This record gives sequence, C-alpha cells and structure tokens, in this order.
Amino acid sequence: MAMRLVLLGAPGAGKGTQAKMLIEKYTIPQISTGDILRKAVADGTPLGKEAKVIMDQGGLVSDKIVLGLVEERVKQPDCQGGFILDGFPRNTAQAEALDTMLSDMKMPLTVALAVDVDQSELLKRLTGRRTCKGCQQMYNIFFTPPKSDSKCDKCGGDLFQRDDDKEETIKKRLEVYNQQTAPLIDYYSRKNIMKSVQGTGSIEDIFTKVTAALGG
Ligand code: AP5
Repeated sequence: MAMRLVLLGAPGAGKGTQAKMLIEKYTIPQISTGDILRKAVADGTPLGKEAKVIMDQGGLVSDKIVLGLVEERVKQPDCQGGFILDGFPRNTAQAEALDTMLSDMKMPLTVALAVDVDQSELLKRLTGRRTCKGCQQMYNIFFTPPKSDSKCDKCGGDLFQRDDDKEETIKKRLEVYNQQTAPLIDYYSRKNIMKSVQGTGSIEDIFTKVTAALGG
C-alpha cells in the first residue's frame, strides 16, 4: 500500500533530515512547505515576497497560500505512489483541509509520525544548521560539521544559514509550534494513525527507529 505520511515535530527536530533518508528508502517524494516557500522567496515571486516577511518573524504563512501549494504538488504524478509531508499541516485548520482534499482524491493519509526532541536541544540544532545552496545537504557546526567551514563535502557548493535561524526568530517559531502545531498529535491520535519516536541520538539510530515505526 502507498505510504502517505505526515512528519510532525518542532523546528529543528530533524524532520527534513529524516525525510531525505526516507525518500531514498521508500522512493516517494518529500513535500516540504518550508522548502517550497524558501524557493519562492529566492525566486522573488510575489508569493515569496509576501511569505518572507512572515517567515522572518517566525510566524505562519496564511493557510490559503500553503494549501494551494500543497494541492498543486500532491496532484503531480510522482505522488501517486505516496508522499512525505514535511512541515505541513501546521495547525488544525490545515489538517482538516488536508483531510478533505485527500479524501476527495481518494488518497487518505496512512500515517503521522512525530519526532520528539527536548526544546533545550533545538536551539543549538537550529543556530548550528548550515545548508548547501547546490544539493541542499544539511550540516550542523556543533554535531555534524562540514570538512570546510563554508563548502559542502558532497558537491563543493556554498553553505548558507537560513534567515529564520536567528535566536529571537527561533524562540517565536517554537512558541508557534507549541501553540498551533503540537495539538495535531492529539488530532492524529484520535484518527488512530499517530506514531512517535525519540529524536535524540545519532541520525542513523533515529532513522532505524523511524523506519521500524513505519513498519520496516
Ligand atoms: P520549515 O522549513 O518547515 O521549518 P521548521 O518546521 O521550523 O523545521 P526546520 O526545517 O527548522 O527543522 P527540521 O525539523 O526539518 O530539522 P532539520 O532536519 O533541518 O518552515 C519554515 C517557515 O516556513 C515557518 O516558520 C513558516 O513561516 C513557514 N511555513 C512552512 N510550512 C508552513 C505551513 N504549513 N503553514 C504556514 N507556514 C509555513 O535539522 C535541524 C538541524 O539539526 C540540522 O543542522 C541537522 O543537521 C541537525 N540534526 C538533525 N538531526 C540531528 C540529530 N539526531 N543530532 C544532532 N543534530 C541533528
């Protein structure tokens, strides 16, 4: 059966890191609303300009914009065999709209998985994050540093720090997560599709727990 997965977890919990490994294991695409929005910002589209102001403050972009982006993406042929939603939904309104959209498409979610990490560790993970402009490989200057400070080990591309990975913005993002996104764990528990794993330890060990929770 196709896996249609929602990855939940606070900013910095490792959703993106695990999603990139899941893509290879299950050969299904990752749909990251954060990545889609950052691309719109980088391309300087009207939507990107509107989103940037909110993202830089650590708030949530409007449900209408994000829902439109997701709907367009899940209708692509590569999502027929399943997909990983990373960073979406982010509040109950988005979760309900997603359920309606996927039910109309006869492609309901099969599982939601939360990656659980103590808030005290998240700040270090986010302030230390560096990403390759070329291949999107992620590093962390504290935990998984690149060999050179500014270049990617894999492709030699330039590494950058996200605009919203500043301490003040991170605090706001964590607040928004606790208030608006964490309640989705109850939402999916009530639908009997909720699983969770501890997200501390090595990236590989967490991946082993993630795949076990997803049924191997
Ligand atoms: P988004 O891009 O979704 O960011 P986020 O949810 O805040 O999550 P992150 O990408 O920061 O963290 P992650 O859990 O993926 O961790 P990662 O694997 O990178 O959203 C950004 C913004 O876009 C939002 O604030 C909002 O404005 C907007 N937006 C997006 N979706 C939206 C929506 N649906 N509705 C409205 N607005 C929306 O790991 C983090 C770091 O930790 C990395 O350096 C990594 O190398 C390191 N790391 C990972 N695992 C480990 C480990 N086990 N040990 C040590 N270090 C680790």
